[in-house]
Amino acid sequence: MASPGDHRWLVVCLTVLTFAVANGAEIFLEWHVAIDTTIRPVSVDQPVITINGMFPGPLINATTNDNVHVNVFNDMDEPLLITWNGIQQRLNSWQDGVAGTNCPIQPGTNWTYVFQAKDQIGTFFYFPSINFQKAGGGFGPIRVNNRDVILVPFGKPEAEFDLLIGDWYQRSYKDVRSMMNTELLAYYSPPDMMLMNGKGPYMNPLAKAHESFTVTQGKMYRLRISNVGIAWSFNFRIQNHRMVVVETEGSYTNQITVDSLDVHVGQSYSVLVTADQNATDYYMVATPKMTNASNTSTLVGIGILHYENSTTPANGPLPSGPDPFDRDFSINQAKSIRWNLTTGAARPNPQGTFNVSNVTISQTFILQGSTAEIDGTPSYTVNNVSYLTPDTPLKLADFFANGSGVYQLDTFPVDSVNNGTVRGTFVATGNHRGWLQIVFKNNLDVMDAWHLDGFGFYVVGFGDGNWAPELNSTYNLYESRCSLHCSGGWTAVYSYLDNPGMWNLRSQQLKNWYLGEELYVRVYDADPNPAKERPPPGNLLLCGKFQPPPLPPPPPSPSEPSTAPPPRSSAPPPQISW
Ligand SMILES: *[C@@H]1O[C@H](CO)[C@@H](O)[C@H](O)[C@H]1NC(C)=O
Ligand SMILES: *[C@@H]1O[C@H](CO)[C@@H](O)[C@H](O)[C@H]1NC(C)=O
Ligand SMILES: *[C@@H]1O[C@H](CO)[C@@H](O)[C@H](O)[C@H]1NC(C)=O
Ligand SMILES: *[C@@H]1O[C@H](CO)[C@@H](O)[C@H](O)[C@H]1NC(C)=O
Ligand SMILES: *[C@@H]1O[C@H](CO)[C@@H](O)[C@H](O)[C@H]1NC(C)=O
Ligand SMILES: *[C@@H]1O[C@H](CO)[C@@H](O)[C@H](O)[C@H]1NC(C)=O
Ligand SMILES: *[C@@H]1O[C@H](CO)[C@@H](O)[C@H](O)[C@H]1NC(C)=O
Ligand SMILES: *[C@@H]1O[C@H](CO)[C@@H](O)[C@H](O)[C@H]1NC(C)=O
Ligand SMILES: *[C@@H]1O[C@H](CO)[C@@H](O)[C@H](O)[C@H]1NC(C)=O
Ligand SMILES: *[C@@H]1O[C@H](CO)[C@@H](O)[C@H](O)[C@H]1NC(C)=O
Ligand SMILES: *[C@@H]1O[C@H](CO)[C@@H](O)[C@H](O)[C@H]1NC(C)=O
Ligand SMILES: *[C@@H]1O[C@H](CO)[C@@H](O)[C@H](O)[C@H]1NC(C)=O
Repeated sequence: MASPGDHRWLVVCLTVLTFAVANGAEIFLEWHVAIDTTIRPVSVDQPVITINGMFPGPLINATTNDNVHVNVFNDMDEPLLITWNGIQQRLNSWQDGVAGTNCPIQPGTNWTYVFQAKDQIGTFFYFPSINFQKAGGGFGPIRVNNRDVILVPFGKPEAEFDLLIGDWYQRSYKDVRSMMNTELLAYYSPPDMMLMNGKGPYMNPLAKAHESFTVTQGKMYRLRISNVGIAWSFNFRIQNHRMVVVETEGSYTNQITVDSLDVHVGQSYSVLVTADQNATDYYMVATPKMTNASNTSTLVGIGILHYENSTTPANGPLPSGPDPFDRDFSINQAKSIRWNLTTGAARPNPQGTFNVSNVTISQTFILQGSTAEIDGTPSYTVNNVSYLTPDTPLKLADFFANGSGVYQLDTFPVDSVNNGTVRGTFVATGNHRGWLQIVFKNNLDVMDAWHLDGFGFYVVGFGDGNWAPELNSTYNLYESRCSLHCSGGWTAVYSYLDNPGMWNLRSQQLKNWYLGEELYVRVYDADPNPAKERPPPGNLLLCGKFQPPPLPPPPPSPSEPSTAPPPRSSAPPPQISW
């Protein structure tokens, strides 16, 4: 696209400033990301990734259309990228913070992300996206609040609590990462504990602390629950209390009351809880799905809902939930969570303005996750293809060299399983402004959750057995979300590809993702008008094939003649004129 000396590049840089002052407030954050071995969440020495000393990291509390500037200082000993799970990075995949869009922030350096919560509301979270670091922490909550002019479809809660729940290894994430190259651990490496906001189960001797929320009798609270874990789905419930599901990843839902809620890796929900019981303490539990965990296992996350002034500790058995192996419970619950079509969200017009039941499908991807041994290393695949992360981000390659030499466009088998397993850097085209149907098939025996950066999914169908095109007659609009689960069957989603960029489509299961279960979808608009897709930011980092220009040589000292040849690099360095 742009080549050195291309004057469009200059125009593009000048427009950067104009965009930064779009509507919404400016939020400035400075984050120091470090490794701390004194946190000891499960009473063992292990590296924990903290942000400004906190684990989990600080809340990003934004309102629709706010611009968030996060100056990230990498004080760790390895490269870092942070991704903003669910923030759609409208027209701006440059800020997405995954290996295909950004050069990593090197240790000892800092880099400022600037992104807008454009036309979004809801509950999300951020996490480190490369090097398996999510298993070491570095995650934290994101709230995008309604603008004042748009009514929230429920009463104002007394308070809101962010509740990040996830499975956790007792080992160092670095050890787990290096063990991913051995077959046994790559395919079967169960985590050890379920943490709630970085804290272990109540009363467990291995837990240094437990999570507790204080409520006042008679008041209503909003819990923003996310599964920030590595592999396990969980079922969440609160002793003697029911929950009203109101929001999921940026969409208000029809309000349904549940006793317990299944949350798969990468998913986020808001529930309302009314403190309508006697003023004692109650258990909040998160039990893993698809495994037998007894109530004394560290795999059961346990926190406390504490009524103000209560002196009675939580007692009685832990609240029981559905059979963890009951797949139908999960599927039926997911089906029961529907969009509220009449409420406004990021905009005043109702969410249901967009009726997806009558859209023209432009492309269908049929994707199936699997495992394979490729060149002697354990791998996860999509359609028998395992993604190989190049040193050069795809987005950089696109900008400077039209992708050439870094990835292959459109050789990925989007609707069939490749005959034989391969590893490579394949990118699929998503038709700009077309409706993409994706059918996820899961033949793995675990829940798999998928996520497409840049877009929401409209979940339209679930089923067992094989998917066939005619099954679209059974579709129904369930919910809009950025990730979903499916196991032993298929899930069909629609996405409207109106957001040009390079977008990561991945398994949210950390080891599957790390070992190749991902691809990129390139949504391309040939028009260089920056209103269509934003130009690279002024602080664009270079790496891989596109190295920063060498520093000018120091002036020759007067006593020595300068004989050194000028520095050379294999690729001509891009001109950086900003
Ligand atoms: C988040 O922002 C909203 C809107 O500005 C404000 O009302 C609320 O108090 C903030 N919450 C926190 C925890 O900062
Ligand atoms: C690094 O931090 C400094 C000091 O806050 C800031 O001025 C600079 O813009 C940051 N660098 C990048 C690349 O964001
Ligand atoms: C609540 O407290 C009242 C009065 O102490 C008692 O009669 C009742 O059994 C309690 N309810 C529960 C569910 O514990
Ligand atoms: C789970 O526990 C039940 C009851 O103890 C047992 O029948 C079942 O085989 C167990 N399942 C697995 C996968 O361990
Ligand atoms: C808790 O105790 C304090 C001090 O006695 C009192 O002011 C407050 O009203 C009590 N709260 C409730 C909910 O009873
Ligand atoms: C755990 O299970 C045992 C046996 O079912 C039961 O006696 C005990 O009360 C339970 N403990 C909790 C905290 O639920
Ligand atoms: C949908 O949202 C509207 C507000 O626009 C609210 O009055 C209504 O109760 C909601 N419907 C359901 C089923 O939650
Ligand atoms: C479906 O869409 C087509 C073209 O967009 C339109 O002409 C037709 O009226 C729509 N049908 C329904 C039932 O909404
Ligand atoms: C969406 O359109 C279909 C026909 O295309 C119609 O049957 C359905 O009722 C519409 N749904 C809503 C919520 O308007
Ligand atoms: C798959 O590849 C093998 C070996 O190259 C070949 O024999 C076979 O016919 C291929 N199958 C299909 C369905 O293309
Ligand atoms: C996927 O690759 C494996 C290993 O080469 C092969 O055995 C299998 O048949 C392939 N799957 C399909 C559907 O072709
Ligand atoms: C369902 O798929 C068939 C192709 O198999 C297509 O002709 C039809 O238009 C689709 N219907 C809808 C509502 O998308």
